[in-house]
Amino acid sequence: MRFDVLTLFPEIFSGYLSQSLLKKGIDAGLLAVHLHDIRRWTTDKHQKVDDRPFGGGPGMVIKVEPVVDCVEAVQKLVEPAGKLILLSPQGKRLDQDLVKELAAEPRLVLVCGRYEGFDQRIIDVLQPEEISIGDYVLNGGEAAAMVVIDACSRLIPGVLGDEQSSQDDSFSTESGQLEFPQYTRPREFRGLTVPEVLLSGDHGEIARWRQEQSYLKTKERRQDLLE
Ligand code: ADE
Repeated sequence: MRFDVLTLFPEIFSGYLSQSLLKKGIDAGLLAVHLHDIRRWTTDKHQKVDDRPFGGGPGMVIKVEPVVDCVEAVQKLVEPAGKLILLSPQGKRLDQDLVKELAAEPRLVLVCGRYEGFDQRIIDVLQPEEISIGDYVLNGGEAAAMVVIDACSRLIPGVLGDEQSSQDDSFSTESGQLEFPQYTRPREFRGLTVPEVLLSGDHGEIARWRQEQSYLKTKERRQDLLE
């Protein structure tokens, strides 16, 4: 799977992409992330990517020309052009079902905003899918793009060592419930012991216990997932 990220701050991504599972997936050729600096598509001397909003008001608005030029050039780099996504607090809320849809794409082109937002004509011309990672406002779309890349990469076959483990995650169990509690050694820590059933070796009992724990946790914390 290929990700192209269009951003004013490509350096933000380097630490994240050079560690752990993402790095392993990239090194193994299972995913590729290409960063594109939107500022390189400016044509004026000052490389201006933002300007004051028409009609007044605080903040700056990202200009239409560099973003549209950058997206069009990047989409032409390779086939297919890829699904175009704009990270924005006004977008459709990301959840695991949407992550599954996105992870099935061969290529995503992710556009990160900054400042007060995008010139509306960027959206009118490019018609991206707008995606939000939650009902809060970030300083920019970069952290949101990393969330999309991270969540999708877990579903690319081979990226996780153990194929089972993404299926056990919260929201990905068939029942759509939260994950059961996990334990490892030592058996006792500050008087807290591992539940006996997990030491029993009885796989049927363990599976039942985990299912029940998932249900109880979901009922307590996220009743909405049971409805
Ligand atoms: N940019 C700013 N806030 C955002 C959010 N919540 N989701 C995606 N992109 C954003």
